Amino acid sequence: MQNISSGATLLLLICSLALVGFLNAQSCTSFFASDDNIALYGKTGNKCLIGSVFNSNSCKKISDIFTQKRGTQCSKSSDCILSVMACRNGICVSEARYTGDNCISDSECVLTGSMPSVCYAGKCRVMTVEQTLPVGGVCFKQTNNYTISTCVADSTCYNSVCMATNTKTAVGANCSMIEDGKLSVCGSGLICSTNQCVATLNIGETCTSDKTCVGICRKTSASAVASTCQSKLAAAGEYCVSDNECGPSGVKLMMCRNNQCVRRNSVLNGKTCSANDECFSGYCNNTVCASISKSCKVSTDCVPSYNTVNEMSLEVDYCLCPGSNITSTSSGSCMKTTCEGFRINFDACLWNQYGLVRPFKLTNDKRTFIDTESTLFKGKCARQLAQYYKCMNQNFADANYVVTSSFQGLDMDVDIVPYVEQVQLTPIQPASSVNSGSFNFISAIALAVFVASMLILH
Ligand SMILES: *[C@@H]1O[C@H](CO)[C@@H](O)[C@H](O)[C@H]1NC(C)=O
Ligand SMILES: *[C@@H]1O[C@H](CO)[C@@H](O)[C@H](O)[C@H]1NC(C)=O
Ligand SMILES: *[C@@H]1O[C@H](CO)[C@@H](O)[C@H](O)[C@H]1NC(C)=O
Ligand SMILES: *[C@@H]1O[C@H](CO)[C@@H](O)[C@H](O)[C@H]1NC(C)=O
Repeated sequence: MQNISSGATLLLLICSLALVGFLNAQSCTSFFASDDNIALYGKTGNKCLIGSVFNSNSCKKISDIFTQKRGTQCSKSSDCILSVMACRNGICVSEARYTGDNCISDSECVLTGSMPSVCYAGKCRVMTVEQTLPVGGVCFKQTNNYTISTCVADSTCYNSVCMATNTKTAVGANCSMIEDGKLSVCGSGLICSTNQCVATLNIGETCTSDKTCVGICRKTSASAVASTCQSKLAAAGEYCVSDNECGPSGVKLMMCRNNQCVRRNSVLNGKTCSANDECFSGYCNNTVCASISKSCKVSTDCVPSYNTVNEMSLEVDYCLCPGSNITSTSSGSCMKTTCEGFRINFDACLWNQYGLVRPFKLTNDKRTFIDTESTLFKGKCARQLAQYYKCMNQNFADANYVVTSSFQGLDMDVDIVPYVEQVQLTPIQPASSVNSGSFNFISAIALAVFVASMLILH
């Protein structure tokens, strides 16, 4: 009975809200209010501005909440308030510590490359792999705090047991079979395809898929009749047909635009575009990159789709109401820019300097944060991060919100003239399925599974 009546009340509330919306054609709803306005709204308006977070009915400095919560007991991640923190083994921990940074548990240390990083003697340290486990036994064992042991050379992990291998060097030889108690694998220059070793194609040879190539199978120019094996993904400026042909791979920093690899969100205002994610501003107005100039009632009036490539569930609210209010009877104004170009600059910097894909989200309110002891925030990319936050701050200032110019631990005295941070031009090849000696593909996959299970235990 209780549930039905509260359900009915909720329905009534939704209907009346819809009616209010209908009557007020000019209305505005935003999730943001100035920090000094926020207490008015309590739980319904819990979005604070850059550098602060809603906690106990007001906006608190992010660094204060971070310091207060880290290391304290929790039962779920939301107890830790900031999204840079998570509840792991009952304790609030940061999830953004890099190699060499201070840590209190393994889960604070970010994955670097394909190896987990662990907290050893109070610092994040990347684990190492040793090939020491004998044939016939288990494939993986954590031998000390920072070492994983796996099968000895010339053996591989097969059905969770280390098994000796027999390397075949001839084209047409059987592979992936147990013969005389050994697993047959193909030697270099060969690949196992339906249980037979076949020769991999060399650079420049015509190909139909990456699988049989030494490198990548792609077209190198519009006039090329066929795809050929290439040692690298296409670099900035080179010919491409799809985004995934542009290096570095898997990090979504590059895109294929008019058959040329370019950095995502790199087209400055005034230049032609065909999609939002080509533009530094994050907005392609018809065919020209531009800042956003529009009145709005709700966020989705501003940017048609705010699920951008690197933030699949972005919680940015782009509509700001008059008087730094969360609602108004007059229409609001859209934030002028998504600041996406600056965000990708930060991502490009993290990639270039630390070889990693940003391991945390970076948006507003609960997702605005800084971990003042993390290299990823305070290190070589601090300027790019400050520029992103300053760009967001400028959006609020343009809508007459009162914004603080400081952001704990970051030098906000940076200019925000749009510029495109260059992406490292050395492309990363996708993992090759070619048997690379004794520590082969099968072992690599099994190791990845082991590593993933370790990360779940974290
Ligand atoms: C090594 O791991 C053990 C068990 O998890 C832990 O008790 C110990 O503190 C770790 N040693 C260091 C130096 O981190
Ligand atoms: C390859 O394996 C098949 C069984 O699948 C067997 O009949 C054949 O003799 C093997 N060839 C060689 C060269 O060992
Ligand atoms: C797009 O450009 C038109 C023409 O300049 C302008 O009227 C409109 O406000 C722009 N749209 C946005 C969302 O900025
Ligand atoms: C802001 O909202 C409050 C509460 O809804 C209202 O009393 C106030 O007049 C609004 N201020 C402005 C400037 O719209």
